[in-house]
Amino acid sequence: MQSDVAYVNVALGMAELATIGTKADAAPASWWRDAVVYQVYVRSFADGNGDGIGDLAGVRSRLPYLSDLGVDALWFNPWYPSPLADNGYDVADYRSIDPAFGTLEEAEELIAVARDLGIRTIVDVVPNHVSNEHPWFRDALAAGPNSPERSRFWFRRGGDDNGTPPNGWQSIFGGSAWTQVGDGDWYLHLFAPQQPDLNWMHPDVWAEHEEVLRFWFDRGVAGVRIDSAALLVKDPGLGAEPTSWAPGEHPYMDRDQLHDIYRSWRMVADGYPEPRVLIGELWLPEPERLIRYLRTDELHTAFNFDYLSCPWEPARMRTCIDAALDAHAPVDAPTTWVISNHDVTRPVTRYGRDDTSFSFEAKRAGTPTDLGRGTRRARAAALLSMALPGSMYVYQGEELGLPEVEDIPDDRRRDPMWLRSGGRDPGRDGCRVPIPWTGARPPFGFSPNGDARPWLDQPDDWAALTVEAESGDPSSMLTLYRTGLRLRRTAPWGDAASIAWLESPEETFTFARGERFVCLVNFGPDPVPLPRGAEVLIASGELEGGAVPRDTTVWLLQNGKPEDVQGKERR
Ligand code: GLC
Ligand code: CA
Repeated sequence: MQSDVAYVNVALGMAELATIGTKADAAPASWWRDAVVYQVYVRSFADGNGDGIGDLAGVRSRLPYLSDLGVDALWFNPWYPSPLADNGYDVADYRSIDPAFGTLEEAEELIAVARDLGIRTIVDVVPNHVSNEHPWFRDALAAGPNSPERSRFWFRRGGDDNGTPPNGWQSIFGGSAWTQVGDGDWYLHLFAPQQPDLNWMHPDVWAEHEEVLRFWFDRGVAGVRIDSAALLVKDPGLGAEPTSWAPGEHPYMDRDQLHDIYRSWRMVADGYPEPRVLIGELWLPEPERLIRYLRTDELHTAFNFDYLSCPWEPARMRTCIDAALDAHAPVDAPTTWVISNHDVTRPVTRYGRDDTSFSFEAKRAGTPTDLGRGTRRARAAALLSMALPGSMYVYQGEELGLPEVEDIPDDRRRDPMWLRSGGRDPGRDGCRVPIPWTGARPPFGFSPNGDARPWLDQPDDWAALTVEAESGDPSSMLTLYRTGLRLRRTAPWGDAASIAWLESPEETFTFARGERFVCLVNFGPDPVPLPRGAEVLIASGELEGGAVPRDTTVWLLQNGKPEDVQGKERR
């Protein structure tokens, strides 16, 4: 049998690792501070009933895989009934499960069974908008202009004798953010027309969402991921979208009243014996604005999109890490480390391009990528993320090194980003392709009988990227994640929650964490010799005669305190 250990110093056995220190049995109340959260895109994870669509039975059957991977929690993308105008982010009923995925009872069982394996559940809540098939919106349409039912949304008359939208706001998916209904009223939708925005000045909207939180918390859910968390509050004046604005003065982004909403959610979350956790999806350019949401009576954590978007360059990465750690320190919130999710280009594809940054405005579908280079860098980035203080997110398939699928035929694409941009934006289908589990041909065991066609086709050449193929391969991405996460659990840095930068050659960086642990990343072409007296715990690529090659991260254990610590300790 092949070893399950990638590039690990086998001389340093697990017994010795145990003496380095095991992750102290984190107080249940703070499990989230250094958790590894695995993002499950249910539709594409595993199909239990053979219809080509992932479902809860599929997730349940793969819990041993997730447990073995060593994750602390699962975040499920929206699993509620939805007409799928935005793949589940158009929710028709916040209190049940889409029949394609299963039943509420199955969800309750899944939450409980996962918890028995030590895995907590996080659900996605979508408070900015509902589906146009949600009862509130149906009622609003039926009740007509100026009705109380319409006041839960943003219905307005338009300009130019009601012939043009009330203002020039643009939908994030392209086109106007307003759609006109039969009786002449226009309604606001920052995303697709099938996702009408709620009016968060309405008391029903507040009350309803707090009840939805309780509904899931009462079922054992450990926390929520809050969708589009910076967009809920709008300026009732509906002023024009400015090109630049003072903090808090954008008409629909990052407005101050949001903090009142999250303070009240925090009270709901804190009302449970194990307080529930609030995680914000906040795409905000300034870390100073972001961390205002993480004050002690608001959200617990937020995704680090700065890190997710950062190009693979040592100075930029180091600045990004510092900025995140510095910004979070005053509010005592842990930083998160994220390199992918269901909205962005898969890391092995992005890191393989000449420009390795990510932005929605400059999605580079079709730009050449070197998947070999991208994979090396994605491996290095993963091991770096695992070494940093805070919590970490892994988006399904990231642990297999799946590339972005860029050649999906137009008639199979679903994403409104693609549809509403008239195809200019490639959309996000390419990172949502079903997981390959076993076998040599599509659908690679995604469905139990192996013959249902998945809702999105997998490329024919994914045989080497299946869970089965990678499980037996010591050099695979999966083995790197399994081994790295296992080592991370042993906390080779002890209880150190801070890092200190060490002197490091050009195009590399090195930091120490705790008494003996050191992490070195080489971004440059020249192999870097290992520091003297260092033992290698794990490396993201094969070392070349004791040197760390290009695009490689190593974890080291120094015999004796790292000597050349430069600069101050950081949280
Ligand atoms: C968030 C989700 C994205 C969705 C959008 C609208 O950004 O991550 O997938 O399309 O919100 O709900
Ligand atoms: Ca299914």
